[in-house]
Amino acid sequence: MPARVALHPLTPADQDEFCSLVAASAELHTPWMQLPATPEAFRLWMRRFDDGANLGFLIRARETGAAVGLVNINSIIRGRYQGASLGYAAFAPSAGRGHMTEGVGLVMRHAFEELRLHRLEANIQPGNTASLALVRRLGFRYEGLSPDYLYIDGAWRDHERWARTAPAPWTPDPTLPDI
Ligand SMILES: CC(C)(COP(=O)(O)OP(=O)(O)OC[C@H]1O[C@@H](n2cnc3c(N)ncnc32)[C@H](O)[C@@H]1OP(=O)(O)O)[C@@H](O)C(=O)NCCC(=O)NCCS
Repeated sequence: MPARVALHPLTPADQDEFCSLVAASAELHTPWMQLPATPEAFRLWMRRFDDGANLGFLIRARETGAAVGLVNINSIIRGRYQGASLGYAAFAPSAGRGHMTEGVGLVMRHAFEELRLHRLEANIQPGNTASLALVRRLGFRYEGLSPDYLYIDGAWRDHERWARTAPAPWTPDPTLPDI
């Protein structure tokens, strides 16, 4: 089946669309995810992409061009790790239609095949059933509970660690040591 969504690197030009979709998604995102909803907060937040350790993508519906969500590849580490962790959120107007499963799937392919990462993690609070269902659909495996893992909504929250490694055959990035 042809993909219903496509990946677009986040750019400063996405600011107004992004902020209004985040504002419209407050109920969906709370208490799991905090994203910028004002131009100033967006500009500050975008700095995380300056040094290449984090990459941000908008997921857009191919048919309409509308942004349906975002996926970030965070904390990319090379060397003997060659891994990163995923952050993602749907935008409320188009949530619950499978767009995010497709979009995160495209990001995984990009991460394993183009960036040649070996490992992707998703760290998810135990009560976040929609996010747990999404990673299960995408073949992530449960690796364990990390107590007090991330500071979210004013407190250190336990997270479940879910992960996938690159499917074979996998071409390593040149930064992977030989031995
Ligand atoms: C986690 C989150 C991104 C999941 O978004 P989502 O809209 O549920 O994900 P999808 O777009 O893949 O949609 C899946 C739903 O669409 C349904 N669906 C409809 N058509 C579908 C299709 N063609 N393919 C797959 N699913 C389809 C699925 O059944 C599922 O619904 P269900 O949960 O009622 O069974 C969203 O809940 C969110 O933004 N949460 C707040 C932020 C957050 O928690 N981020 C993650 C932090 S770890």
